[in-house]
Amino acid sequence: MSSPLRIAVLASGRGSNLQALIAARDAGTLPVEFVLVGSDKASAGALDLAQAAGIPRLALNPKAYPSRRDFDLDLFARIEATGAELLVLAGYMRILDGEALHPWVGRMINIHPSLLPKYRGLHTHRRALEAGDLEHGASVHYVTAELDGGPVIAQARIGIEAGDHEDLLAQRLLAYEHRLLPAVVRLIAASRLAYAAPDGVALDGERLSAPLELRGDELRR
Ligand code: GRF
Repeated sequence: MSSPLRIAVLASGRGSNLQALIAARDAGTLPVEFVLVGSDKASAGALDLAQAAGIPRLALNPKAYPSRRDFDLDLFARIEATGAELLVLAGYMRILDGEALHPWVGRMINIHPSLLPKYRGLHTHRRALEAGDLEHGASVHYVTAELDGGPVIAQARIGIEAGDHEDLLAQRLLAYEHRLLPAVVRLIAASRLAYAAPDGVALDGERLSAPLELRGDELRR
């Protein structure tokens, strides 16, 4: 058997997507080794989850650095030093410096709570509701220098229901995020997925014409 994929996770908040990855690993359905959980917030719940799971933790304070680039260069150098093969942004709320992230393009993914390219940035649930959208969703994409703009690997879609409000919609979507992110990492761990520069994704060596779709716990073309 090949060795598990070495992954690092960055998170700024509660870390429920991190927990979903840990749970999948624990269930034996995700062959990964967590080499680091990092955060820009010392109080992030994700760091507590990492501690409970025995994963090395790193909290760096952006205010201790003269610039965004200096912070990101130090952060990425520390991640690189762990031997991480994949970097997963799971609720990491800082914009990344384009030059600092460049060596990680193709090895870094992000989960974003919208059907990209719709609603890059913040308040995605509110914006979907205000637009009167009939459906909403989450996307996992390769990270490039363009905020929430890298090629989309896979999406989970849900219908917007009468009575949905911002928090409820976010909560309903989160349950799908928790299946979407492990499913994508599973494909990467199986060496089935690759970044096809500059704006594509390849599955089993074939360029995708559209993002994969989550059905149950599986990703389908
Ligand atoms: C998720 O909605 C994710 O899509 C977004 O930030 C949130 C993080 O939640 N990028 P959690 O910290 O994983 O619970």
